[in-house]
Amino acid sequence: MRNTMNLTFAPMHPVIGAECKGVDIGEPISPEIADAIHDGMDRYAVLVFRRGTPLTTEQQIRFTKSLGETEGLYTKIQAEKGVRLDNPLLSDISNLDPSDKLLPPDDRKRLFNLGNRLWHSDSSYKKIPAKYSALCAHVIPPRGGETEFADMRAAWDMLGADMKEQIKDLVAEHSRIFSKGTLGFQFTEQELIDFEPVRQPLVRTHPRTGRHSLYLSSHAGRIVGMPQVEALMLLRELTEHATQREFVFRHQWRAGDLVMWDNQATMHRARPYEDLKYPRDMRRTTLTAGAPALGYASAL
Ligand code: OGA
Ligand code: MN
Repeated sequence: MRNTMNLTFAPMHPVIGAECKGVDIGEPISPEIADAIHDGMDRYAVLVFRRGTPLTTEQQIRFTKSLGETEGLYTKIQAEKGVRLDNPLLSDISNLDPSDKLLPPDDRKRLFNLGNRLWHSDSSYKKIPAKYSALCAHVIPPRGGETEFADMRAAWDMLGADMKEQIKDLVAEHSRIFSKGTLGFQFTEQELIDFEPVRQPLVRTHPRTGRHSLYLSSHAGRIVGMPQVEALMLLRELTEHATQREFVFRHQWRAGDLVMWDNQATMHRARPYEDLKYPRDMRRTTLTAGAPALGYASAL
């Protein structure tokens, strides 16, 4: 199918998430279609593209690059057995080893990836965090393994005026040491150096829409200038508020789906499934926000 401009959005939830129809993201898209997709992302924050067939590596990278600049490569946890996917721009969001076998219970990559079940925003532990993430489903388990998305704009809007005032200028510190650390994951000395915390505003302003949102993530583990116990309490309180059912859209995967979310306006988490029994093969490409989020904080 050659792409023409007949793209539509069908909302999947009252505040967040829509299915984008009328475009084949496996084919090149014009700048006009890219603009329409950005507008859809601004409005719904999560877009679902249902194709039935997973994108090839080249198709997923082409589609992602037509919407912006891809993120620099990750400092991965020490890979024990090499990498599974053929291109470093793809993040391997699977429970498989390089020969496509299920990871055993105590595998480091498995334990590290379990952290995706905590609410987070991708790359919030980087000074320049992620803009969009695009996750393509190749193999899905028979049950479980959904992905949930929370609307952090609605979460900000629905906070009381006193709380807004109290937190609007706060700065949090984010690191994978905090997120995986709360689960008891053990880091090597080199990882403790590589994963040095970075600062992010607790409330951010979207560079395109100007809307404010709570910038929370499991990676957040300190608040600058606040006693640690109080900081963790506040982060918990806000996370509970932000992930109430009415702000959350749950995506039930079909093989071939691509779901793209704006990390500048949402958090997400994976839901459990029987990962020692069934493969779940998902591949992610990621766009960079291009500038530190802190630069946008003072607009409040
Ligand atoms: C991710 C992620 C959740 C999932 O790809 O960044 O957190 O459901 N995925 O796999
Ligand atoms: Mn993620």
